[in-house]
Amino acid sequence: MIIQPKTRGFICTTAHPEGCAKQVQQQIDYVKAQAPLNGPANVLVIGASTGYGLASRITAAFGAGANTIGVYFDKAAEGSRTASAGWYNSAAFEREAAKQGIKSHSIVGDAFSNEIKAKTIELIKAEYGTVDLVVYSVASPRRTHPVTGEVFSSVIKPVGEAYSNQTLNFHTGEVSTATIEPATDDEVRQTIAVMGGEDWGMWIDQLREAGVLADGATTVAYSYIGPEVTHPIYKEGTIGQAKNDLEKTAIELNGQLSATGGRAFVSVNKALVTQSSAAIPVVPLYISALYKVMKEKELHENCIQQMYRLFAEHLYAGGAASGNSSHLIRIDDWEMRADVQEEVMRRWNELNTENASELTDLEGYREDFFNLFGFRTAGVDYEADTDPAVGIPNLY
Ligand SMILES: NC(=O)c1ccc[n+]([C@@H]2O[C@H](COP(=O)([O-])OP(=O)(O)OC[C@H]3O[C@@H](n4cnc5c(N)ncnc54)[C@H](O)[C@@H]3O)[C@@H](O)[C@H]2O)c1
Repeated sequence: MIIQPKTRGFICTTAHPEGCAKQVQQQIDYVKAQAPLNGPANVLVIGASTGYGLASRITAAFGAGANTIGVYFDKAAEGSRTASAGWYNSAAFEREAAKQGIKSHSIVGDAFSNEIKAKTIELIKAEYGTVDLVVYSVASPRRTHPVTGEVFSSVIKPVGEAYSNQTLNFHTGEVSTATIEPATDDEVRQTIAVMGGEDWGMWIDQLREAGVLADGATTVAYSYIGPEVTHPIYKEGTIGQAKNDLEKTAIELNGQLSATGGRAFVSVNKALVTQSSAAIPVVPLYISALYKVMKEKELHENCIQQMYRLFAEHLYAGGAASGNSSHLIRIDDWEMRADVQEEVMRRWNELNTENASELTDLEGYREDFFNLFGFRTAGVDYEADTDPAVGIPNLY
């Protein structure tokens, strides 16, 4: 069939298998062009199919030659419905890893469930023995608690009072004012349950109890802080409360893992266009302005550049058991540089619909958004008949 983008707001309901494969290949090529990493041997990435998780998996496999297990929640194609982008990305990853003799497996299912945790442990026992790096990169709107069965929904809202700021419709380029009412206490609780650290902690506990976590293992989860203009909707909002909980979990896990020489980190990453960040009000406009300024200053990075830098300069800077002494790693350092932020804010205060494409990198934002789903990718014939049914090799 002919596969074209079908967008609904910040969601694209189609994905292109060849475009996704090319996007994955570009990330692999980037990592292979860097200095090889003296990194981990067996890596588990939870939330491995898109965004920061996929880039972490690619960095581990093609930068350090690590064996990888990717856990993710993606859908295969069905009839005339294409698979999700993460499905195609992972299929491409698995094919390329196999071609280069790098061992890998995929597990598709709900990472929040006990069943997927047990299945992952079974796979590690059967094929890998232990894992020495666990990356936790799940971003989800919902979680079913594995013990109580309660279904939690996460919301992106301010806490305490309503928040108004300018926001962007990146399809039309329209800049308008968005007002978001504050979350209720229960919405805060539910967002923490979805995006906080409880599930990360459960994974590490269960891996350790099953004896499949190597001595000296490292674990890392991802967070965001951002500038003051987005603080009410991010850092001080519901999601920020969940990230505080994630940090608390990192400290607890670090305490537990350090007994065997292990470490737990939260890495604060740069704002980038992903399926998750596109859903946050105000943030896409900020990202467009940030892209423009960081590109002008030649400081712009995408997911793969961020993740390579995380591994090379922080997690494995001096070999497999080295790195930061603090539980918080800041690879948002270039985004937060004073000169970058001053320039972004100068533009922010002048922004309107008429000047948005001049003051911000609106086109770069759009390009990245469509790239997430394998569209607007060089070398792909989007008019060609394409089979949406793609299998994932090494699906466990
Ligand atoms: N995008 C940004 O700007 C940004 C910046 C800093 C930090 N982060 C953080 O990075 C992490 C990853 O976010 P992202 O932007 O890469 O998101 P993303 O949407 O690209 O990736 C989310 C991943 O989670 C997986 N997933 C979702 N629900 C799942 C489930 N129930 N079971 C198994 N897998 C599931 C998806 O399959 C996908 O692989 C998040 O913690 C996010 O807060 C993102």
